[in-house]
Formats: sequence, structure tokens, C-alpha cells
Amino acid sequence: MPTAQEQITTGIPRRVIWLALAGAVGGFLFGFDSSVVNGAVDAMKEEFALSEAVTGFAVAIALLGCAAGAFLAGKVADRHGRIPAMKLGALLFLVSALGTGFAFGVWDLVFWRLVGGLGIGLASVIAPAYISEISPRQVRGRLASLQQLAITTGIFAALLSDALLATSAGGAGHGFWLGIEAWRWMFLAAAVPAVAYGWVAFTLPESPRFLVFKGKEEEARKVFASIAPAEDTDRHIRDIQDAIEEDQLAGQKGSLRGRTFGLQAVVWAGIILSVLQQFVGINVIFYYSTTLWKAVGFQEKDSLAISVATSVTNILVTLVAIALVDRVGRRPILLAGSVGMAVSLGAMALAFSSAAGTGENITLPGAWGPVALVAANVFVVSFGASWGPLVWVLLGEIFPSRIRARALGLAAAAQWVANFAITLSFPVMAAGSLPLTYAMYALFAAASFFFVMFKVPETNGMSLEQAETLFVPKGSAAKAK
Ligand code: BGC
Repeated sequence: MPTAQEQITTGIPRRVIWLALAGAVGGFLFGFDSSVVNGAVDAMKEEFALSEAVTGFAVAIALLGCAAGAFLAGKVADRHGRIPAMKLGALLFLVSALGTGFAFGVWDLVFWRLVGGLGIGLASVIAPAYISEISPRQVRGRLASLQQLAITTGIFAALLSDALLATSAGGAGHGFWLGIEAWRWMFLAAAVPAVAYGWVAFTLPESPRFLVFKGKEEEARKVFASIAPAEDTDRHIRDIQDAIEEDQLAGQKGSLRGRTFGLQAVVWAGIILSVLQQFVGINVIFYYSTTLWKAVGFQEKDSLAISVATSVTNILVTLVAIALVDRVGRRPILLAGSVGMAVSLGAMALAFSSAAGTGENITLPGAWGPVALVAANVFVVSFGASWGPLVWVLLGEIFPSRIRARALGLAAAAQWVANFAITLSFPVMAAGSLPLTYAMYALFAAASFFFVMFKVPETNGMSLEQAETLFVPKGSAAKAK
């Protein structure tokens, strides 16, 4: 139980910060495991004599695993709890780290990557659900943004660990400790955060909201008592029980189905937020940066340093979102981010429309190189301070508790499929027309502005039980609060 002094000095009980940080370890693995392949891919390709197509498949397949894992996470977490889902995630991460590290050939490697994808998908759902459910409403945005801070730190750590291993071994394909090649160590390194995640899962308490839903009020009371002032515990439990009663009155049976094209409006909102977050093309910057930087005049050998710099920027700008999200609210940040992304992507489309050369050998004449460079960075900053963290914040807080994990699972699965579609289509689209590709991402950024403007209500400062009434169509019994 937080002392009064702790509450005054930090504003947030320390125990809650610890639980949120521990919950966010899943985000670190999400970032680490989705980026670690970057440093290993060329050596892997050489060792198993893979064609371009098979290599692309081995890399992208994890994203489909992520989609399946997100979907599965929702079911496991709503039925058995958030903590059992975390434990399953940790196990999948560990098995995948060892499997990919000791892979015999490409087919078992693909299988282990799929297993790792399942873990990433699970983690992508559990962290936002768990953090939202244990956070006091006044700081929920900040604590839920820790997930993105962990994702971006995970991306950075993977790039760094890849670079350190490759440099120490004299190349990713060279033998390293115990005669095992450096690229294998890159995957094996992921076992360390996987074990940490497993340990965390065994020490965290179950989400009190999940416990109330399962009728375990006494257990929920104990958890609430350890994270909120005693006088709030009764109110929390009463609010959750009221929400359950209202659902029953409204005939809601805990299904995702509804009257808006077969799903509840709020489920669609989550899916669309997720898909737009990917359709602005953020991962193109992360996965295919070399071509971009070469076009702007950098050498191939600089590209790793630039990727590391981009990933550090990505971490730092998350702090901006953390500082602002509970002060100015979700909507202004998302709207400003959409404008920044649309303008910077538009500038990139313009810059690349004056490119000379084709394929990997394009160059940008005159001032267009610096314009593209600045625009790409403005884009990363705009995304990282807004849509990156805030989509996860919103996914954690807009869904009613009775369907939270499943709805989040579906929305996150849609996000992974969208990520897969963008990742796979970029090389083909870029070969067709790079300016049009960026223009398309710019259009999606513009669409994201209007979507937030007209369809996303402000959830800042509300309890989860209040937030869940925002998306209920007018006139419905569930809204009568
Ligand atoms: C997205 C990832 C992306 C990352 C980049 C996350 O919010 O879900 O797809 O790679 O941000 O920072």
C-alpha cells in the first residue's frame, strides 16, 4: 500500500509504476524479437543458401504468427486471465529464441519464427490490457505509453545487440562463442528478456478487473488495496459491478458481435485505429531504411548507424507523448501527429518524384536529398510522439472489460496483418513508383486525422468503466449511466 508521502512525491503509487513497468516487459520483447532478424538475415540467407523469395518469407512469416498470437491472447486472457497469457507468451519467446538460434535448416527456422511471432502477438495484447486495468485513471495514458517505450527500447536493444555480436565476431556469419555463429547468438540473445518476462509473469498479481469479472471479489479487493488508496477500493469494485449489471440489462453477453457490419462499433474503432497506424508506412522506415538513406546520399555502411539513430529518436519522442498524454488528452496528440505525418509523407512523395535512377540506385538531386532526410525524420518524430504510443493506450482503454482482451486481440491481429501487407507490398510498390507509394501513405495519414476528428472520443481522465460507455450507440441501455 502506498504511503501518503509516496503519493504526494510521485503522484503515482510506486507499486503501480512497478506493475506497469513489469507489464511493459512484454513490449520490450515485442520490439526486440520483431527487429532482431535484421542483423541476422544476410548470414542466414548465406548459410541456408536461400533465394530472395524464401528469405522474404522467413522474415515476414513472423508477422502472421503475431496476428495469430494476438487473436489467441484475447481468448486466453479473457478466459483464464492476463497472467496465464503472459506466462504462455514468455514460454513461446524462450522456445523461439532457442529454436531459431539452433535451427537446422530454413524450414525449422521458419517454424520457430512463427512460434516467436505467436509470443510477440500475445505480448502486444496483454501489456496494454494489463497496464490499463491496474492504472489509476489520472495517469493511465502515461503508464500505458510505457508499452511503446518498451517496444522502441526493444527495437534499439536488438539493433545494438546484433551490431555488437557481428562486430565482435567479425561478421554475422562468423563463428563466435562456443564456435556458434554470431547470427545464431543474435536469436539466442532473445532468451534473456524471455526469461525475465517469465519471471515477471510469476510475480505479478492478476488484473483486479479480470478478477471481479470472474466473481473473485475478495482477491480483487486485495489487489486494489495494494495499488490504490483504501477508500477507492470499494468504489472501483462497485463501478465494475455496475458495468456488469448494465451489460446484463442491455442484453450484452460479452460478444464482439454488434450492429455495425456484424461487430460492435467500438471493435471497429479499435481495428481502424490499428490498421491506420500501420498504413502510414512506419515500418517501411524501419525495415527498408537502407534504400531510403542511400537515395539521400549516405553510404551503405552508414545505414546501420542511421538505423540506430532513428531507433533512439523513436525512444526519445515517446517521452514527449508520456509527458503530454494525461495533460492535453489523446485526441489533440493524435490529430497533431496525423498532420505531421501527412505533411512529411507528402514531402517525401514530392522529393522522390524528382529522383533519378531506378531500384536500389536512385538518387535525389539538389535540395531534394536533404528535404527527404528531414521529412523522414519529421515523420518518425510525428509517429513516435502520437500514433505509436497512443494507439496502444486507446486499445487498452476503449473496450468494455467483459470483451477487453478479445477485442484488443482482434484489433491487434488486424494491426499485424496490416503490418504484413505493408511490409510485403513495399518492395513491389516501390519498384512501380516510390512517389506514389509515399503519397498513398500520406493519404492514409490524412484519413487518420479525419477518423480521430469524427470517430474517436476523448478518454482522458475517465475511469475504464466511464470510457467504455463512449462508443455505445445513443439510446442503448448500456449508455444510461
Ligand atoms: C507499432 C509497430 C512499430 C513501432 C515503431 C508500434 O506502436 O505497433 O508496428 O514498429 O510502433 O515504433
